[in-house]
Amino acid sequence: MNEDIPQLPSYDESSLDAAFATLAEEVRGETSSHVDAEAFRLRWLGRKQGRLKLISDAWLKSSPAEARKPLGMRFNQLKQQIEVALADAIAAPATSALKAGIDITLPGSVRAPGIEHPLLKTMHEVVAVFHHLGYSTALGPQVESDFYNFEALNFPPNHPARDTQDTLVLAGQQAKASRDRLLMRTHTSPVQIRTMIAEAPPIRIVVPGKVHRNDAADATHSPVFHQVEGLCVDTNITFSDLKGTLDHAMKALFGSGVKTRFFPSFFPFTEPSADVQISCIFCAGKGCRKCKHSGWIELLGCGMVDPAVFASVDEQRVAQGKEAAYDPAKVTGFAFGMGVERIAMILHGVSEIGQFYSGDMRFLEQFA
Ligand code: PHE
Repeated sequence: MNEDIPQLPSYDESSLDAAFATLAEEVRGETSSHVDAEAFRLRWLGRKQGRLKLISDAWLKSSPAEARKPLGMRFNQLKQQIEVALADAIAAPATSALKAGIDITLPGSVRAPGIEHPLLKTMHEVVAVFHHLGYSTALGPQVESDFYNFEALNFPPNHPARDTQDTLVLAGQQAKASRDRLLMRTHTSPVQIRTMIAEAPPIRIVVPGKVHRNDAADATHSPVFHQVEGLCVDTNITFSDLKGTLDHAMKALFGSGVKTRFFPSFFPFTEPSADVQISCIFCAGKGCRKCKHSGWIELLGCGMVDPAVFASVDEQRVAQGKEAAYDPAKVTGFAFGMGVERIAMILHGVSEIGQFYSGDMRFLEQFA
């Protein structure tokens, strides 16, 4: 006989009462804490091996005839109690999950609020300075055609930047005309062209974005980095406007104490072109290690939009059925471009560009 089946000492009323009270207590005990409803049902009501079936088989088999009725009544009561308990367990399924090991009384895991990555933060700060001057944001694709990245920006066909030494080009482009070949944009300047083809002046845009160059990574270079481009085109825009705008922007970014100075430079798409330096923010221009004892830090490129760029924009506009709108006799403009990493490194005293991309929480948490 199954040793799990309780013995019934005798069939008198008080023995029956005691035996069924023990069983009722057993059922209550199993359902007082969290219960897996299906396991409970199988254990008590299983057709062949259920406890109720085994016990009633054992007790009824040897029972005297007059004990059948009191036994049967008590089994029915017990069965009812089990069914009610089962219905309760099914109605509260969450308690089964608790049995499976989830303890809702434990403290929850803490999620620290996120912060902007220092590069994005810097990019947004630069963009915000120009938003306050009435500029709006324009964006363009990172996979760009030779036309927008070089040709329309007045790069001659054999310019070294067009070489795969400096530019990451996409595979399988040889069958296409040179201007249609795809590459990873090397600067945000192609968005100047895209915007002017789409819209007539006045234009005032800033273009934040990712750019790519076939450069080896070192302390200050990364093959993928970020720029913010600016373009302003209207009637009577002069080099003085360019100087005033960038002088204001540098003061807004680095503090009102910084000075700017403009050096002659060259870009195919601006004429004249200039490199802009700011007075060293670490030594206030006295000369230190950071500014290589010059007192100045070189920060961005800029210039007046080259008439050849306007000509190529109007050529596209006319080809698309739009009116020509960039007659260099009527409109002028300036453009500028700056590296976001370089600005962030100067602002926060970061000496390794790679720290921005490492995902090292000890570095990133300093910006929280
Ligand atoms: N596109 C240039 C660069 O990446 C920067 C620049 C932008 C210069 C606009 C002049 C005007 O170096």
